[in-house]
Amino acid sequence: MIGRLNHVALAVPDLTAATALYRDSLGAGVSPPVAMPEHGVTTVFVELPNTKIELLEPLGADSPIARFLERNPAGGVHHVCYEVEDILEARALLEAQGLRVLGDGEPKIGAHGKPVLFLHPKDFCGTLFELDQA
Ligand code: CO
Repeated sequence: MIGRLNHVALAVPDLTAATALYRDSLGAGVSPPVAMPEHGVTTVFVELPNTKIELLEPLGADSPIARFLERNPAGGVHHVCYEVEDILEARALLEAQGLRVLGDGEPKIGAHGKPVLFLHPKDFCGTLFELDQA
């Protein structure tokens, strides 16, 4: 079921500085910032030869990224994202094994305009997992 690594997401306190680090110091291609109020984040995607890095900065007072940065003021790895062919089939397979999907369990539209789900860190090696329908 699990497919390619789509991206690794880093929560950052300063999106402009983090973007400059990847673009100017490391020579990577970066996207323009995109505000996603429904997720409480502003995102920049860094293109690498084999995957992407998603930079996440809090947007709004109720951002889950703001809470993450309170615990990790310098930033840190927030989640990893794997591709699946069919997100509803993947959800059914996981839930049948007692593995937990976060929120109301319904896919939301993510940064790429495709449906995404987040999975409970306690069931997945202590790491927040995102599933993207490829
Ligand atoms: Co992500």
